Amino acid sequence: MGFRMRVRNSYFRKGVLIAASGLAMLIPALCVGQTNFIKNDFTVAEKQYRNLLKTSTDITQFPRTTNKDGSVRSTDVWDWTQGFFAGGLWYIYEYTGKPEWKSAATKWTEALEQAQFLTQHHDVGFVMYCSYGNAIRFEKDPKKLELYHKILIQSAESALTRFDPKVGLIKSWNTKASWDKKTTWKFPVIIDNMMNLEMLCYVSKLTGNPKYKEVAISHALNTMKYHFRPDFSTYHVVDYAPDGKVLHQQTNQGYSDNSTWARGQGWAIYGFTMMYRETKDKRFLNAAQKAADFYINHPNLPKDKIPYWDFNAEQKGYKPDFDYNANKLSYIPRDASAGSLTASGLLELSTFAKDGKKYFTQAELMLKSLSGNGYLAKPGTNGGFILKHSVGSLPHKSEIDVPLIYADYYFLEALLRYQKIKG
Ligand code: GLY
Repeated sequence: MGFRMRVRNSYFRKGVLIAASGLAMLIPALCVGQTNFIKNDFTVAEKQYRNLLKTSTDITQFPRTTNKDGSVRSTDVWDWTQGFFAGGLWYIYEYTGKPEWKSAATKWTEALEQAQFLTQHHDVGFVMYCSYGNAIRFEKDPKKLELYHKILIQSAESALTRFDPKVGLIKSWNTKASWDKKTTWKFPVIIDNMMNLEMLCYVSKLTGNPKYKEVAISHALNTMKYHFRPDFSTYHVVDYAPDGKVLHQQTNQGYSDNSTWARGQGWAIYGFTMMYRETKDKRFLNAAQKAADFYINHPNLPKDKIPYWDFNAEQKGYKPDFDYNANKLSYIPRDASAGSLTASGLLELSTFAKDGKKYFTQAELMLKSLSGNGYLAKPGTNGGFILKHSVGSLPHKSEIDVPLIYADYYFLEALLRYQKIKG
């Protein structure tokens, strides 16, 4: 049987197959004979998130990372990372089937209800689909399910408020200055925005109204045109004029405008793979594969396959617009969040691509590295987070070589995807 045939792609569609088939309840049984690292990772995840639940008692404060003293740093409900904790709890529930995790996941999901009205930036998709988008796969109570659906529809409406039909894109941020202060971005779109489109595709299926998915497709097509360089590396930020003309191609969280920010490249791989799943448009598959090939073949990808925070940090020919020396450490930090989300994206891509095996093999290496002592936290340490060594934004001197909640989320997701593919 061919590699692709062994995988039911619909597994990856939140809310479709797993809840319907009751597969979630079978997953612990599937662990038998599985590679031991998955079992161990979930044991660590359970221990760590029990700790995180103990310290995170205020449900208006969503755990994100650690402070210098090791205590947990949280965000409020209007940021971009607040859905990942709930999502991670759902994944632990999916693996273990233990009611304690469903109850915690429900509590942290429902704590996000007001974020359905988040319109001040583009990340409502991250927030609501990683939380409610997972909740709908497991919630059986029809009243709750109806409410969750309504919340997701409103969340998609909120996302659409930032879509400009003349530009053909969802505006990521409001007006913002570039690092060199020479540019004021008026309609900035970041590569990360691809990740907000999955919720739009889902809400079109849910409502039967194509408008949400049409916006997602328009956004993805324009991103494909203007965010990729000829070698399929990505710009982080593209700024547009009111008529849709490209004004600037720059970076905000990467090393320099011409460099490749590792997490951004990961968002592209994951996002275009997801858009191919939702549309079956081969152009998206091609973009995902080319972006993945750039990443996995890059000469600066370390042997353990977990990238430096930027593929071009400190390289000749790349010049930061921020004061790099002020932020410089004695080493170039890795970004485990880029590693985990890329592993998850590559695993899905492996089920679609003709030469899928190569993406699967690379993702497996990434997951094995993340499951080793170098990245996986020792229980009782790391503030309760699962993975160590991520970078939020080095140019902003923020969250450098720390745990990050989204590294954990995509790690757990990737482990479940890996397990499903291995059967
Ligand atoms: N979406 C923001 C980031 O990746 O840092």
